[in-house]
Amino acid sequence: MTTRTAAAIPVASRIGGFVYAIRNIVAEARTVEASGRKVRYLNIGDPIPFGFRTPPHLIEAVTRAMRDGHNGYTPSPGIPAARAAVAAELTSRGMPMDADRVIMTSGTSEGIELALQALVDPGTEVLVPVPTYPLYTAVLAKIGARPRYYRTDPSRGWLPDVEHIRSLVNADTRALVVIDPNNPAGVVYPADVRRQLIALADEYNIPVLADEVYGDLAYDGPVPALASLDHEAPIISFSSLSKAYLAPGWRAGWLAVGRNERLDGVLAGIKKLADGRLCAPGPMQHAVVAALNGDRSHQMAFRAALRERAQLTSSRLNAIPGMSCVPPVAAFYAMPKVDLPPGRTDEDYVLGLLRATGVLVVYGSGFGLPAEQGFMRVVFLANPKELGEVYDAMAEFTRDFLGR
Ligand SMILES: Cc1ncc(COP(=O)(O)O)c(C=O)c1O
Repeated sequence: MTTRTAAAIPVASRIGGFVYAIRNIVAEARTVEASGRKVRYLNIGDPIPFGFRTPPHLIEAVTRAMRDGHNGYTPSPGIPAARAAVAAELTSRGMPMDADRVIMTSGTSEGIELALQALVDPGTEVLVPVPTYPLYTAVLAKIGARPRYYRTDPSRGWLPDVEHIRSLVNADTRALVVIDPNNPAGVVYPADVRRQLIALADEYNIPVLADEVYGDLAYDGPVPALASLDHEAPIISFSSLSKAYLAPGWRAGWLAVGRNERLDGVLAGIKKLADGRLCAPGPMQHAVVAALNGDRSHQMAFRAALRERAQLTSSRLNAIPGMSCVPPVAAFYAMPKVDLPPGRTDEDYVLGLLRATGVLVVYGSGFGLPAEQGFMRVVFLANPKELGEVYDAMAEFTRDFLGR
C-alpha cells in the first residue's frame, strides 16, 4: 500500500499576482458581520440587491427561450439574431458594424478577457487607466503581461492625461484600455478627449479596447460609441446587459471588432478562442435581442434614480471636512478622497470605517491608486434614505479618524 503525503498541492504562481479588491474585501466584512454588526455592502456595482428590477420583457424572453427548447450550445460567436441586434445597436450609436464581427460573450468581462488573450503576449504591456476597473489588471496577471498605468486627473474631472499615455507607449505596447463612461470615477469623456485618445491609438497602431458597459447610464442620456468619432480607427467595443438592462447575473455580453482590415487578424484570433469556450449562455442571448430591439423605458427611470443619488453623494461627501469628491455624471460610482494624516493608507481608513460603522467601500489602491492618496470608491445604489445614513456614519467616522 502506498503511503499518502500530507504535503499541500502546489498552486500556480500566477495566483500570487491575482488580486481583486472589490471581492477580496468581503472576507473582512464577513468577520465584522460575525461580530453582530450589520454591514452595508457598497462595494459591488450590482443594482439588483438594491431593489432595481430586471425589465419583465427580458425575463420573458429568457424563459420563453428555455421553454422553446433553446437549451443547447449556441454557435460559438452567438445566435445570429443577437449578433445582428448588437450590430444594429452599434451602427445606430455611430459605430458601423456587421453581425459577423460581433461575438456574444459571458458578460463584458469575458469579452475583455478574450480580446486581451488574442492581443497580448506574456511580457508585453497594456495601457490601463488609473483608477482602473480591476478586471484588466487581473487578466493581465493571468497572461503574464504588464499594465502600464496612465493618469486620469481628479483636478480635471478625472480626465485622462493624453501626454502621459504618449510617454508610456513603446514597442511592447499591445492595447489601450478606455473606460467611458468610467468606473470608478463616474465621468464621461468629452469629444475632444475621446478624439485625442483615438488619434494617439491610430498614430501608434495600437487597438483601443473601448469598455462601453455604462454607455446608456450617463444621466443626460446615452453616449455615442467611441468609434463614432473615427470609423477607421482600430477599436473593439464591449458591453452587456449587466448594467443598463439590470441583469448582471445573466452574464449576457458582447464584443464588436471595428470594421477595419487592420483588425481582421485579431477578429480571427478572438473567434478561435471563442470556439474553445463553446458559447455564451444561450437563453440569455435571446434576451439581448429583446433588450436591444425592445422597450427601454426602464432606462429613463434608472438614470433619474442615479442622478438623484449622485447629487446626494457628492453634496454630502463634499460637506465632510477633509473629504472631497468629483460629482459623478454617469453610472453608480463616486471616488471621494480623504486627506490622510502622514503614514496612514486608504486601506486603514476603509477597514476602520467598516469596523466602526459597518459601511463597506473599496480602497482606491484596489483600483491602482497610491494608498497614501486616500481615495475610495463608493457604490451609491442604495436608496436615498439609506445613503443619508451611510454619509452620516462616514462624516462621524472621518471626524474621529482625522482627529478634527
Ligand atoms: C468598467 C467595467 N467593465 C466591465 C464590467 C464587467 O461587466 P459584466 O458584468 O458585463 O462582465 C464592469 C462591472 O462592474 C465594469 O464596471
